[in-house]
Amino acid sequence: MKLGVLLSGRGSNFLAIDAAIREGRLTGVEIAVVIANIAEAPGLEAAKKLGLPTALHVSKGRKREEHDAACIETLRAYGVELVCLAGYMRLLSPEFISAFQNRILNIHPSLLPAFPGLDAQYQAFDFGVKVAGCTVHFVDEHLDHGVILLQRTVPVHDEDTAETLAARILNEEHKAYPEAIGRVASGKYEIRGRQYLLKS
Ligand code: GRF
Repeated sequence: MKLGVLLSGRGSNFLAIDAAIREGRLTGVEIAVVIANIAEAPGLEAAKKLGLPTALHVSKGRKREEHDAACIETLRAYGVELVCLAGYMRLLSPEFISAFQNRILNIHPSLLPAFPGLDAQYQAFDFGVKVAGCTVHFVDEHLDHGVILLQRTVPVHDEDTAETLAARILNEEHKAYPEAIGRVASGKYEIRGRQYLLKS
C-alpha cells in the first residue's frame, strides 16, 4: 500500500513510520511521497536526506481548495492509497476528504474527544488529567473528530511538566502511528458507524 505523508514541521512521526518500514516492523506499505506545506519544515529536509520523493506545496496565501487540489494531484501522481497526516497544521477541504474517503489518517496528542485542537498535551496538563495519551483516527470534515482507530495512554506524574508529559505522549505516538497504518494496510477491519472493528 502506497502512503503519502503530509507534514508541516519537525516530522518525528513521519520518521517513526519510515523507521518502522525500514526495520521491517511495518510491512506491506511504502512511503510513495512526502508533501510539506511549509518550505522550512525539518521533516521535508529529513525526507530528502532519506532519498524519498518529496513535494512542496506552500499553502500560505493560497486558497484552501487550490492548495488541496495541488496536493491531491501529487498524491494521485504517486499512486497514493493512504494519506497520513503527520503534524500537518492545516484543515483539509471537503474535496480532499472525499477524494480519499476513509483513506486519510491523523495522529493527535490527546485521548480524543478530550482536548481537540492545538497544544493538546498542554491543554491536558493544565486541566490536571491523570491519564493522557494519543489517538490515531480517520479524518472527516470536523477537526480531530473522525472514527478512532487506536489510542495509547500514558500516566501523568506529580513531578511532570507540560514538556515532560508531551515527550511521554510523543513516544507513544511513534508506536501508535505505525501500528495503526499496519492495521489499515492489512484490510482486516470494518467501520460501522463510529466503531472501528478488527476482523480476524
Ligand atoms: C504530534 O504531536 C502530532 O500528534 C500532532 O502534531 C505533532 C507533530 O509532531 N498532530 P511531529 O512533526 O510528527 O514531530
